[in-house]
Amino acid sequence: MFTDSSDLYDLVYSFKDYEKESAEILRIIKAIRPDCKTILDIGCGTSEHHRYLNKHFSIDGIDLNSKFIETSKKKNPAGHYRVENMVQFDLEKQYDVIICLFSSIGYLQTMNEIIAALKCFNKHLNTDGLVMVEPWLNKDTWQNGKVHMITIDNEDIKICRMNTSYTSGDLSILNFHYLVGTKDQGVQHFQEEHKLRLTSKEEMLKAFQLADFDVTFDEKGLFGRGMYHGKKIKI
Ligand SMILES: C[S@@+](CC[C@H](N)C(=O)[O-])C[C@H]1O[C@@H](n2cnc3c(N)ncnc32)[C@H](O)[C@@H]1O
Repeated sequence: MFTDSSDLYDLVYSFKDYEKESAEILRIIKAIRPDCKTILDIGCGTSEHHRYLNKHFSIDGIDLNSKFIETSKKKNPAGHYRVENMVQFDLEKQYDVIICLFSSIGYLQTMNEIIAALKCFNKHLNTDGLVMVEPWLNKDTWQNGKVHMITIDNEDIKICRMNTSYTSGDLSILNFHYLVGTKDQGVQHFQEEHKLRLTSKEEMLKAFQLADFDVTFDEKGLFGRGMYHGKKIKI
């Protein structure tokens, strides 16, 4: 996953407008769960959203990547951050809202993992809790073989990240090639493979239902990938 590129994450994704996304998340939470005080961000990455959301909520995060967790702690010192696998974790705490953004759930490779994760999300929500999950692409929206490129051209660092992609069964496989140039280290090249499941809307809706959520799908979402909104069902 983001093993070799974790230090570059915020630069590579600087094209994303995290402030605007956070304002939209705030708007949705205020509309659906106006009394929300606490948020857990699952697959929080470097927690760029938290720099804005922490003005309104107490926000914690979990991620598989320990470097991202260290970065998150620096960005939001009031938050609690832990290295955890979203498929199975127990923070012994419940939250008003859970967010899982920018396709973090796409990294789960089987339906069993997705269902297990959503059940775990449910367990960490207060009564009337809300979960917002921004998915990865699905088989209808996926475009096979496309070449993508992101470039960063700063004074002290230049990055070119280029990838092709293909599918294998339900998985989309992206091979990222990084060229990173700095004065001290010259030009370095490394590769990273990312595997994300192409899960259909029907499969996702079913998974939410199995995990005891009343679920709806907003096609637009934050970034054109849509957003699942799941309300915890009272049992
Ligand atoms: C594309 S990044 C999104 C990060 C962040 N939510 C954002 O909006 O920038 C996907 C994140 O999911 C995390 N991730 C992938 N699989 C995970 C798992 N099983 N448990 C926890 N985190 C996971 C990765 O480490 C990575 O930080």
